[in-house]
Amino acid sequence: MASRVVTPERITDTGPRHKNPLIKYVLRYKWHYAGGFAALVFASVLSMLPPLVLKIAIDDLTAGTTVSRLAALGGIVIAIALVESAIRFGGRLLVSSRARWIEYHLRDDLARQFLRLDRSFYLRSRTGDLMARATNDLNWIRDFMGPTVNDIWFTVVMLTVGLTFLFSIDVRLTLLSIVYFPFVAGVVIYLETTLEDKFRLVQEQFGHLTNRAQENVSGIRAIKAYAQEESEVESWAADNRELMRRALSFGRWVSGFFPMMILATGIGTALVIWFGGRDVVAGDITLGQFVQFNVILRMLASQLTVLGWVVSAWQQFIASLGRINEILREEPDIDEPAEPRVLDTIRGDVAFEGVTFEHDGRTVLDRLDLRIAAGSTVAIVGETGAGKTTMVDLLTRVFDPWEGRVTVDGVDVRELSLQRLRDAIGVVPQEAFLFSESLHENISFGRVDPPADDVDEALKTSQLSNDLEQLGGGLDTLIGERGVTLSGGQKQRATLARALLKRPPILVLDDSLSHVDTNTEEEILRRLRVFMAERTTLVIAHRSSTLAAADRIVVLEDGAIAEDGTHEELLAADGRYAGYYRRQLLREQAAAEERELAVEDQGQSGTAAGDRADEEGAQS
Ligand code: GTP
Ligand code: MG
Repeated sequence: MASRVVTPERITDTGPRHKNPLIKYVLRYKWHYAGGFAALVFASVLSMLPPLVLKIAIDDLTAGTTVSRLAALGGIVIAIALVESAIRFGGRLLVSSRARWIEYHLRDDLARQFLRLDRSFYLRSRTGDLMARATNDLNWIRDFMGPTVNDIWFTVVMLTVGLTFLFSIDVRLTLLSIVYFPFVAGVVIYLETTLEDKFRLVQEQFGHLTNRAQENVSGIRAIKAYAQEESEVESWAADNRELMRRALSFGRWVSGFFPMMILATGIGTALVIWFGGRDVVAGDITLGQFVQFNVILRMLASQLTVLGWVVSAWQQFIASLGRINEILREEPDIDEPAEPRVLDTIRGDVAFEGVTFEHDGRTVLDRLDLRIAAGSTVAIVGETGAGKTTMVDLLTRVFDPWEGRVTVDGVDVRELSLQRLRDAIGVVPQEAFLFSESLHENISFGRVDPPADDVDEALKTSQLSNDLEQLGGGLDTLIGERGVTLSGGQKQRATLARALLKRPPILVLDDSLSHVDTNTEEEILRRLRVFMAERTTLVIAHRSSTLAAADRIVVLEDGAIAEDGTHEELLAADGRYAGYYRRQLLREQAAAEERELAVEDQGQSGTAAGDRADEEGAQS
């Protein structure tokens, strides 16, 4: 668990961001790459030697030679091959291992960056896309910086060294036999890019199908509930057929590719036999040189096939690098103050001073003023979408206000370090989120190794202690994927326990007891009063009992506070709150009656202790 607790140093110590992080790492490993390159040059020169030995052997054979001399030549070829492969192996290893290191650094940078970025970034991004960048794109970059770079160098070096050798044998013949190289290279590049396109189409369809499969599995309840199995099967079949069609088209191009290459090298050989053969007859070159020439030419022609692939690998690499850099260069909207104000203790005074905030051009809060004294319990009431959660987001600096300021103990929250601010506020969010870990790890998320007494108290206050037995494994029960699925109310109470365990001076409950039954909720609130005495509690709630229990109630309407007072005062004033409260009471009564009827029907109560199956208080 401790590994998840990220201290501010860890997030901010990445220092100034490099314009292109990859270059930073390539420079760090420049000597490794230089070594790999040198090894390639050396190996390529060596690879030209066996054809040379072949030439000597053939010329010897025509002139008359001995068996021992031939054996010696054979030995030399084997020796060269051994040295060459050893050098190639070493060079490749040097480069590939650095590629793994670069991948490691980039992955590390990405993870830090993901934790550093704030909500607005995640609102703009799709999870699947971020996952793809952190996996696929990173793999592409690693492959490029390792084997691909090696192959590109190999091709370039081989072509350079090979052509040098060819020219040294016969300039005219070399020129004749490479005139068609650019043509082959062009064809190859065309074929390879087409192949790449076809492959991308296959991948896209495959991704689409995978997504679908995943949605079918996770959405199986909805599919069954709406009896959509048939139509799902049909559209699945259509997508699946499309995948096969694309795969077959890709397959046809792949099958055509190598025959094309064989044809191309065949033409070259024919040219050399025709013109080179005449040179041999004319006595311009020896038979040995003729063979040597042919062997080297074949080696070079096979390198041409790599060219097309290099082009597409380069394009892919640039695209992947762009996507990774896009994330790494992202700056969080919420920035740490350069010199944060240090507050030893936080009492818990909270104030919104003329706060204005917009979401996508729509004003949500409009010059909102609200002062909350330390130690009080204030309920915020408002229609859905009124901006209640937004107020919480501004207090915890998920967003910053456009105008005005939010203060804690009179200090603008923007002057406090994020760590200090968020340590001071325990938020129980509207949507409970639990990690797939044990219950204990989940509730001690905000505090490393909490004392057992504190854990006990948080469990009691959140009324979770009653559920431990039912969960089987107690605090060690695994939650979520392949663990126990908690009921809605249990989830809410677990997130409450998590917030309480932080012992924050300011506690915010954002509609966080909506799935907890009325009795349990009252008990929680009663215990909270003791727990939070001296501390500030902000409750966003709908339920009548919660509202009545608050010290003070504010009504949020049109982005500002419309009514403000105690429950009794506001009822007496008979304004918006009074109307809202009466409607809420009626709704709760109706829901209670409905539940009783249902229980009579079934002859049993189907809901888990402490939680409600219906949503009586959840809507306004
Ligand atoms: P309930 O939780 O339903 O009771 O509403 P609330 O009072 O908590 O409303 P909230 O503060 O969540 O939202 C206020 C308004 O801002 C609503 O109209 C939302 O549609 C809008 N809003 C909230 N979050 C976002 C966001 O991330 N992007 C955009 N564009 N709008 C948002
Ligand atoms: Mg809300």
